[in-house]
Amino acid sequence: MGRICLKDKEFELFIPEQQIREAIAEMALEIRKDIEGCGNPLFVSILNGAFMFTAELMRQLDGPYEMTFARYSSYRGTSTTGKVNEIMPVTVDVRGRLVILLEDIVDTGTTMQYVMEKLKSQGAADVKLATMLFKPDAMRCDLVPDYIGLRIPTDFIVGYGLDYDELGRTYKDIYKLVGE
Ligand code: IMP
Ligand code: MG
Repeated sequence: MGRICLKDKEFELFIPEQQIREAIAEMALEIRKDIEGCGNPLFVSILNGAFMFTAELMRQLDGPYEMTFARYSSYRGTSTTGKVNEIMPVTVDVRGRLVILLEDIVDTGTTMQYVMEKLKSQGAADVKLATMLFKPDAMRCDLVPDYIGLRIPTDFIVGYGLDYDELGRTYKDIYKLVGE
């Protein structure tokens, strides 16, 4: 499908599934190398957006790892200080463990900066961030993801877990907003 419509907006094909999967496969190799001999790492998938990325990454890792899910929502006002709401926080004991967050996309970085600091304050030995997509030009925090699938321009995108008003998550390819 070259173009899709969601509500009032039109999106065009941007990143085909195959390219996303190849980027995730490369990331899996890197992560596997880094966590070798690392005790008992904990993967935390950030819902809802990271569900497809998480499934693909875990299939590639194909190992005996513990993983859990968490959910946050960020509200961006006109100021640069975003407010992060905890809808479903991490309930697993993270003390002394390596935690690897799995996120669909890092945009301003507000959400992940908050979550990473929180987990460190709860006693995690280290917190790493693996993001399927990264918009470097939108970044407003002092944060560098440890693992990045693909770097993209500051366009609004949907598909492969990402939504526009809860729609579009279920497409296998990634689409970007046309115009605007
Ligand atoms: P941040 O806190 O500004 O980094 O925002 C991260 C969150 O905003 C992501 O987890 C997504 O849920 C959402 N987001 C950012 N950019 C996009 C996009 O292009 N499409 C859909 N959701 C996005
Ligand atoms: Mg998200």
